[in-house]
Amino acid sequence: MTSVVLGVSAGIAVYKSCELLRLFTESGHDVRVVPTRDALRFVGEPTWAALSGNPVTTEVWESVHEVPHVRIGQHADLVVVAPATADVLARAAHGLANDLLTNTLLTARCPVVFAPAMHTEMWEHPATRANVATLRERGAIVLDPAVGRLTGADSGPGRLPDPAEIFEVCRRVLAGRPADLAGRHVVISAGGTREAIDPVRFIGNRSSGLQGYALARTAVARGAEVTLVSANVALPDPAGAKVVRVESARALRDAVLAAADHADAVVMAAAVADFRPVRASDTKIKKSAAEPDPIRLAKNPDVLAELGEVRRERRAAESGPYPRVIAGFAAETDDVLANGRAKLERKGCDLLVVNQVGEGLAFGTPDNAAVVLLAGGGSVEVPRGPKEDLADVVWDLVAERLA
Ligand code: CTP
Repeated sequence: MTSVVLGVSAGIAVYKSCELLRLFTESGHDVRVVPTRDALRFVGEPTWAALSGNPVTTEVWESVHEVPHVRIGQHADLVVVAPATADVLARAAHGLANDLLTNTLLTARCPVVFAPAMHTEMWEHPATRANVATLRERGAIVLDPAVGRLTGADSGPGRLPDPAEIFEVCRRVLAGRPADLAGRHVVISAGGTREAIDPVRFIGNRSSGLQGYALARTAVARGAEVTLVSANVALPDPAGAKVVRVESARALRDAVLAAADHADAVVMAAAVADFRPVRASDTKIKKSAAEPDPIRLAKNPDVLAELGEVRRERRAAESGPYPRVIAGFAAETDDVLANGRAKLERKGCDLLVVNQVGEGLAFGTPDNAAVVLLAGGGSVEVPRGPKEDLADVVWDLVAERLA
């Protein structure tokens, strides 16, 4: 049984951590909750003790014969601090040891995940930025908070991510992948674009966004800073990723190119419409029209090809950095490998994940099977399995190329 320490500090989001605790215990983890003194003002000791089935203390002065200030950290397989306040981040960054939680953080040699939650001003304060940078440099995974409504009427970055999504990151960290993307910025596109026909209708596709979101989640768990350009996806935001929402191919192009400017890698998992109606009607097209007008289509930009093109130009002109790794996805129905190899070369990317679609494969399913084609020859076969496993193979290949 894996041993998890759930540190909780004094933020209003503490109530959401009861849900996180449940997710850990129900999936068979032994959880020791270590609150700060003030966290107990929000949710009391009996709740944590009952939900975890373990004793709960905030101080190093209880059960001293068991040396809890050293033991708990030493025996943990994972420490997750959620919510992590500005105060606890500061104390952790500076190595203070004035309660059981900070002692535990100093003695833990396992992976540590912080899920900060606080007001935007506190999150953006230079002191907090510096503390977060220090913790990340030392190998901790510090999730960027979610953006949305805060305690009062205001909103902005500072919300605790969805507990189920924090749990997913922790699950991936516990799966033992290295934090080999720490300090890297990766951009992922996910979902499927929509091209307006009129205010109520569009041309779309069947992409659910599951593969792109799995890529985001696994990259966060491996320490990356993640920008997720999300096209029409009905899934909860992955914890720790910066989500940019777009609708059309052209909006996706602008968002991806802007983020790619300071990225180490871009993975284009979105299904981008190749064509759009030349003109979207401003008003709803009525069926009363005697003869419907045919919809004329125009070509959309090919974002993946453009990324490759810009990189080639910048390299030739030695004008600034551009993503060192560019990866695409290709869904094919026939001649899968030959079409994939031709596409890899045509689009000038480093990796192309090719999957066969049809018969329940790929779209909207939790599983995927694929072949990753490598520029310069060679390929890696990924057997049918969870989309997270395929995502991790992609990150293995990306990390290798960035090293
Ligand atoms: N792609 C893109 N911009 C487009 C179309 C596709 O960036 N306008 C990207 C996708 O995100 C994916 C890769 O290109 O990573 C391959 O997409 P796919 O639809 O398979 O390729 P197409 O270029 O549409 O080729 P074809 O229609 O010949 O299959």
